[in-house]
Amino acid sequence: MSFNKNSIEAFDDGLFIPEVGPWAENKYEVLHHYNHMFSTGMKNRFQNRVYIDLFSSAGIAKIRDSNRFVLTSSLIALNLPDPYDQYIYCDIDEKCISALSQRVKKHFPNTNANYIVGDCNERVKEILSLLPKPSRSNKVLTFCVVDPYNLGINFETMKVLNVYRVDFLVLLSWMDANRNEFRYVEYDNDRIDNFLGDKEWRDRWLKLKKDKYDFRKFLAEEYVQRMMTLGYPKTAMNSLFPIRSTDKKLFLYHLAFFSKSEKGYDFWNKARLGGPKQTSLNFED
Ligand SMILES: C[S@@+](CC[C@H](N)C(=O)[O-])C[C@H]1O[C@@H](n2cnc3c(N)ncnc32)[C@H](O)[C@@H]1O
Repeated sequence: MSFNKNSIEAFDDGLFIPEVGPWAENKYEVLHHYNHMFSTGMKNRFQNRVYIDLFSSAGIAKIRDSNRFVLTSSLIALNLPDPYDQYIYCDIDEKCISALSQRVKKHFPNTNANYIVGDCNERVKEILSLLPKPSRSNKVLTFCVVDPYNLGINFETMKVLNVYRVDFLVLLSWMDANRNEFRYVEYDNDRIDNFLGDKEWRDRWLKLKKDKYDFRKFLAEEYVQRMMTLGYPKTAMNSLFPIRSTDKKLFLYHLAFFSKSEKGYDFWNKARLGGPKQTSLNFED
């Protein structure tokens, strides 16, 4: 059996398969559209197009309470008419990397892939060392997907990767923010300090909180501002893609796209607007 290049549909191949909520399909559809446009659109402009998945998981997931299987970020980026020239996959869970590497070997045997089992925040320098060195005759463009369960991506990790030309798609987990704001404001909790790469955020937040400001909106604005210090434009704030739960319409997360090129936003806007429909782009509810 093989995968259809025009869909995210997958099947049970007997290897490890995690479950995901049905809403994750919207994320995968957008990734599918974006990867198609980016990898084909850039193939004649860059000698090396590199895909990095910092939280790569296993490549196939089962949709909870269904019999359906879908490709997830790491394999969506491979199942393309014009695959990337190199893949770098990282996951803290050995089961995920083992299943993913076997799938790549079986279904995409000529792939130039590197696998790292470990915490991407700790292993980022090793990830960076795997990237080809850009030169005049070797133009390198990297697309990096950052898809954690929570706000567990350190800004320092983004900073390390930013030495080269990298477009990022970052999942901003609002479930984590909403549930844990009371923990994160404590001075001995460093989750948001690490996420923003800034320890001074509490003063700004506590002032806004008095006016009933939305914590998620505050974090999104702060994050975009932090990315601006790395040279990314403010555009990310106007092109967030919201994902809600399919049943209760809970606001789960935003996908935020960061590129230093207009072409990058052109692809991203086509992917997010031409892909699955969402009810609202705002922070209400
Ligand atoms: C939300 S899932 C990833 C989803 C995947 N991108 C997809 O398309 O389904 C998060 C993954 O990150 C892994 N993970 C959690 N913390 C990590 C860390 N610090 N570094 C690398 N991987 C991590 C988990 O094992 C899990 O497979």
